[in-house]
Amino acid sequence: MVRSCYIHIPFCSHICSYCDFSKMYYHPDWCNRYLTALEKEIEQNYQKEVLETIYIGGGTPSSLSVEELNRLFQILEKLKRSRNCEFTVECNVENITKEKLELFLKKGVNRISIGVQSANPKILDFLERPYRKEEIKRIISLVKEVGFSNINVDLMYAIPGQTLNDLENDLDFFLNLNVPHISTYSLMIENHTKLGNQKVEAIKEELDYEMYQKIHKKLEEFSYEHYEISNFGKIGYFSKHNLTYWKNLKYYGFGLGASGFLSNIRYTNTKQFQNYEQGNFRNFEEKISKKVDMENEIMLGLRTMEGISKIEFIHKFGQKLEDVFPMIQKLVKEKKLLETKENYRIPFSYWYLSNEIIIYFIGEVE
Ligand SMILES: C[S@@+](CC[C@H](N)C(=O)[O-])C[C@H]1O[C@@H](n2cnc3c(N)ncnc32)[C@H](O)[C@@H]1O
Ligand code: SF4
Repeated sequence: MVRSCYIHIPFCSHICSYCDFSKMYYHPDWCNRYLTALEKEIEQNYQKEVLETIYIGGGTPSSLSVEELNRLFQILEKLKRSRNCEFTVECNVENITKEKLELFLKKGVNRISIGVQSANPKILDFLERPYRKEEIKRIISLVKEVGFSNINVDLMYAIPGQTLNDLENDLDFFLNLNVPHISTYSLMIENHTKLGNQKVEAIKEELDYEMYQKIHKKLEEFSYEHYEISNFGKIGYFSKHNLTYWKNLKYYGFGLGASGFLSNIRYTNTKQFQNYEQGNFRNFEEKISKKVDMENEIMLGLRTMEGISKIEFIHKFGQKLEDVFPMIQKLVKEKKLLETKENYRIPFSYWYLSNEIIIYFIGEVE
């Protein structure tokens, strides 16, 4: 049963030096045409399930005008929502306004995620983010004043030239914002971005590791649970939407470049505006075999503090985890996995190396 839906808004008022997401410069005419196509995609595919989470991400959803956002919400009225549906909108500091926030609240949005990234002017310039720390503080106060308490901020680190001291200052700034959720991102230098084209080098792995440790230590000190490899939240504020992904559950992905997982198909939509507009939404579909589904269950579940539930695995696949993945006992003996009565999880000391542990599981199933 599908319980979650991601909606992609690809427009941005500026393009950042590092970004490889599906995005383009905002233009009212393109936006109008995009919303028409998005409506068609939803009408053709949505099967009227009641949704527990909706996430409008980007790109930059807050780059749309109030009129365009009104039209977007009118389209999304087709989506049935449970009474406690977690409804998130991603916003950027440079184009969120009181009027837009009030509209979100009126339309049932109850979670705001803000791409802050850093408060350091040197880093903001490097990332080509057009604001300063005074505007960040003003926007966070505004979000709270309008009535939102469930707020996430994104923090980036591992930026070339960034020192541990710079990170410490950013962490202090983020903690002072006093929001209940922080998502962290180690900068990836992607091909086809400005940084990639300039052949900018990533920071050394040892420094990246030290930064990861520092973030973990500091945020836990301030009562944020490190509940997923890159995510920290106060109790009661973990992202329900992202937990859908990590629990390997089904979800719709609507919009340019969006991904989804329905029945036994994982799909990615086209990133070409023209194709999307013509109704050729899907670019890639993969039928997920039981073997791959079980591997995904492990790969995704082991990213979280809870890990993989033994009983849920049996309910889902009709087999015991230990029978499918016999190497699990070896990993427990080596203390790379922790076993409790209910689940298996990676101990924090190995989180940074979780990919090396996860790799043991791939290709092991007959
Ligand atoms: C694609 S953005 C969309 C949100 C919003 N438009 C923004 O600019 O914050 C979602 C998050 O992905 C992260 N991100 C994007 N590109 C990244 C990269 N190359 N390396 C690491 N994190 C990245 C950023 O932290 C960003 O907040
Ligand atoms: S990081 Fe956000 S604002 Fe910057 S280009 Fe990517 S989607 Fe747009």
